[in-house]
Amino acid sequence: MIDHKEFQNRFGIFYRSQIMKEMVEVIHQVAPTDITVLIQGESGSGKELVAKAIHGLSPRANKKLFSVNCGAIPEGLIESELFGHQRGAFTGAVESRKGYFELADGGTLFLDEIGDLPLPLQVKFLRVLETKEILRLGAETVIKVDVRFITATNKDLALEVYKKRFREDLYYRLRTVMIEIPPLRKRKEDIPILADKFLEDFCERNKISKIEIASEAYEFLMDYSWPGNVRELKNIIESAAALNKTGILRIEDFEKYLTPLQFDERERNLPIFVNKSAEVADREFIYKALFEIKKDLMEIKEAILNRSNKIEDIIPETENYSITSYKEQQKEAIKNALIQAKFDKKKAAELLGISLRTLYRRLKELQMDD
Ligand SMILES: Nc1ncnc2c1ncn2[C@@H]1O[C@H](COP(=O)(O)OP(=O)(O)OP(=O)(O)O)[C@@H](O)[C@H]1O
Ligand SMILES: [Mg+2]
Repeated sequence: MIDHKEFQNRFGIFYRSQIMKEMVEVIHQVAPTDITVLIQGESGSGKELVAKAIHGLSPRANKKLFSVNCGAIPEGLIESELFGHQRGAFTGAVESRKGYFELADGGTLFLDEIGDLPLPLQVKFLRVLETKEILRLGAETVIKVDVRFITATNKDLALEVYKKRFREDLYYRLRTVMIEIPPLRKRKEDIPILADKFLEDFCERNKISKIEIASEAYEFLMDYSWPGNVRELKNIIESAAALNKTGILRIEDFEKYLTPLQFDERERNLPIFVNKSAEVADREFIYKALFEIKKDLMEIKEAILNRSNKIEDIIPETENYSITSYKEQQKEAIKNALIQAKFDKKKAAELLGISLRTLYRRLKELQMDD
């Protein structure tokens, strides 16, 4: 029998729903083995916490857990970061260096955003999974490694396979043991306990007296669709608590932080919104259409830019449409997305319909990275 209370306190994963209890059972089943696990869940749903719990419950718990975000490392560097390199393997490789596969020897390696691993590296990673051997860049002999892999993605990998962005063989290999973290809107019973926990921790951390949540405010929070999942709930509770003067958090304390319309990307035809009046619904519909158009436009731009690295090649400088104005437009779009995503870059990239890596590149190109 699993002691859920003990598990919650030990790993900081709080829940009440049956679906989460079942997920925690799966965590307990897979943790003691060396099986590669794939954690799938929307942004902010708790993938990192689950990875830590699997490691923490495994026989490798006293060894290190290394985390690598495959989406955040520039494409040209990923291979040497993972596999390491020999001295002189490429310009600038002045010393030999271990990669994460070697560093994590004996422990666990958490490969986050595995869906962003470039295709050529997917083949190499699959080989590592099969052989438990690695070859440093520029090396001639393989090295045996003893690593337990945990992978995670917020993408629908099956769709990525369909779009030929993820290798089918690796997908089948990874999905044999898959832990799916349900989005918060599918486990609303968890919202009150999470809200209480975040509020209590906030008060304790900041040494302020206890704040409560009004009962109608709990219902309000349970009605919201939480596109940013648990992370969004945590941020909103903390923002509301920081400004609170009365000791009680009411609906109006939360309202201003919640976006009234939330499009659920996964259930594309069903915009989810809090207010359901006809007028609002109409507006939702128009916004949704605009959002789709914007996304398509970004995808077209992306496709063009991928074909040619020079913006100048594609868009001739004319009176009405100068390079500067195009750059300004890009800047504006990125700025808006960042604001909308509350400066969560990953979320912003999603809003823009580009990968996190592309966003980092754009920020650099547009000198917005400071
Ligand atoms: N069940 C939970 N109980 C308590 N806190 C949680 C829970 N799930 C998530 N959190 C908190 O929410 C935040 C986001 O969690 P985490 O980073 O694990 O999500 P993620 O799925 O890895 O997100 P991303 O896709 O953005 O990387 C963290 O602050 C985490 O502590
Ligand atoms: Mg994460």
